[in-house]
Amino acid sequence: MINNLGFLVSHNGSNMQAIIDACKSGDIKAKTVIIISNNSRSGVIFKAKQAGIPFYHLSSDTHSNPKELDATILDALIKYHVDLVILAGYDRKLGTKTLGYYRGKVINIHPSLLPKYGGPGMWGIRVHQAVLAAGEKETGVSIHLANKDYDRGPLIAQTRVPVLPDDTPETLAIRVLEREHSFFVETVGKIIDGEIRL
Ligand code: GRF
Repeated sequence: MINNLGFLVSHNGSNMQAIIDACKSGDIKAKTVIIISNNSRSGVIFKAKQAGIPFYHLSSDTHSNPKELDATILDALIKYHVDLVILAGYDRKLGTKTLGYYRGKVINIHPSLLPKYGGPGMWGIRVHQAVLAAGEKETGVSIHLANKDYDRGPLIAQTRVPVLPDDTPETLAIRVLEREHSFFVETVGKIIDGEIRL
């Protein structure tokens, strides 16, 4: 049974916000209990404060030893009884201790139809630049289980987004991100309801 969600986010946290909102409105029957960021200037600090959710800055700045950082992240997730770990724009890898403890319970969202346009270096606007450079007619959103490799864990759900003839990387990024918000809420909702089994 999944009751408590824990987020790891590096930047804006708009996907995280969509899920927090859905938890509040009751569309997702779970609670966000902790937000962790590796970025002390991340916009999620404000979002966490507004929602009254505990926020932790944990990074190589706070813990120079990667093993200690891994252990501290895991301790924080356990302390708040997190059942499902959500990577929502987290630009770091989780350590082996955390991944091992939460095996099959860590999900990530990526703005392309994985396995295409994923992996090291494929983040942000670069994903959409690559999609356009390849002349793709469609792109999409992937939600997958996270493992030790970037964007390579088993797929959970995907949705397609059209590429329009006059798209720039920026217009495509906006259309994909909008779709991410609704699709992430829908998919996490299905995981919580047991419609999707991890
Ligand atoms: C999203 O495109 C997500 O797929 C990727 O990072 C971006 C995060 O956006 N992993 P936001 O921080 O949720 O606005």
